[in-house]
Amino acid sequence: MTRVFNFSAGPSQLPTEVLQKCAAELMEYGISGQSVMEMSHRSSSFLEIIETTERRLRSLLQIPESYQVLFLQGGASLQFTMVPMNLLKPGGKAGVIHTGAWTKKAIAECRKIGGCEILASSEAEHFTEILKGVTTPQDLDYVHICENNTIYGTKYKELPECGNVPLVADCSSCILSEPMEISRYGLIFAGAQKNMGIAGLTVVIVREDLIQERPEIPSMLSYAVQAKNKSMFNTPPTFAIYLLGLVLEWVENRYHDLAALKTHNQQKAALLYNQIDQSRLFTNPVRPEDRSIMNVPFVTGDAALDAKFIAAAEAEGLVNLKGHRSVGGMRASIYNAMPLEGVQKLVDLMRRFEEENRIC
Ligand SMILES: Cc1ncc(COP(=O)(O)O)c(C=O)c1O
Repeated sequence: MTRVFNFSAGPSQLPTEVLQKCAAELMEYGISGQSVMEMSHRSSSFLEIIETTERRLRSLLQIPESYQVLFLQGGASLQFTMVPMNLLKPGGKAGVIHTGAWTKKAIAECRKIGGCEILASSEAEHFTEILKGVTTPQDLDYVHICENNTIYGTKYKELPECGNVPLVADCSSCILSEPMEISRYGLIFAGAQKNMGIAGLTVVIVREDLIQERPEIPSMLSYAVQAKNKSMFNTPPTFAIYLLGLVLEWVENRYHDLAALKTHNQQKAALLYNQIDQSRLFTNPVRPEDRSIMNVPFVTGDAALDAKFIAAAEAEGLVNLKGHRSVGGMRASIYNAMPLEGVQKLVDLMRRFEEENRIC
């Protein structure tokens, strides 16, 4: 079997070593006589898996003791509901810095629960930049950002200054790509299917003082209930948690820490951005200082030529390069598991394609 280089925005490519270990353990995990897929979530084998996974995540992200780690379901999208449900005070409101489709969804869901103010929006710039110097009214219950916008390829390099207002960040497409200063956040959430493994698991990292007992909140949607039950109020997504554990082990073995992984990610991104910037065919519309090192959109400006490029890439085993339907063109998602070799192959093809389709 020849494995492709998968540039999908998520679910996305997994490290080969992770798949190999998973395959080796598929029939029997350790000496348990069963697969993780078959295991009771209350069994000692699974309890060891979930505890080790949490320990590895805490160690890599340097999560302080005063934060809880929750392993939930419902995707990152359910957090657009759970965050306001749990963090909005009666009659209170949230502030959102609007940077594209993901904050649009967060705003819409928040407004079903309570107040929501758009503090700033980059819509007029077609979401090609991150807004800086946004002031935070101190009467807000929290400020919501999408730290890395998967669709437009923008990334906060500096977090907004929120004073005493907790910062909530959707880190679905940047978690584990670089070190984070967790104490700057009130709450972080991320779907696992990009840098953390497979779909079905959402990780929430939340400061303990923000977890309020609120009996009116349905149990499954309550951080307090989930935290009290150590993410086992019901059956958690056991296999996805196990997979996250394997991914974290891979990161530790290969990079040791997230600073080294960031350097590797920057190297991959630089290779691609340099090619785009020197190209006369491909462009990336994002302000250079706001560019993501995980998601890199690029276009030729001609839909037919974009389609031709995507087909040429697929023929070479470089798949899922089609841009998001709202943006068009191409998008290369180069998460942690994408090797430098995959980006190099893409860049080589871009060079050849440009020569063959030169616009005079
Ligand atoms: C930044 C961001 N937030 C939220 C989501 C929604 O995630 P899910 O499909 O897990 O609900 C995505 C999905 O790609 C995303 O990229």
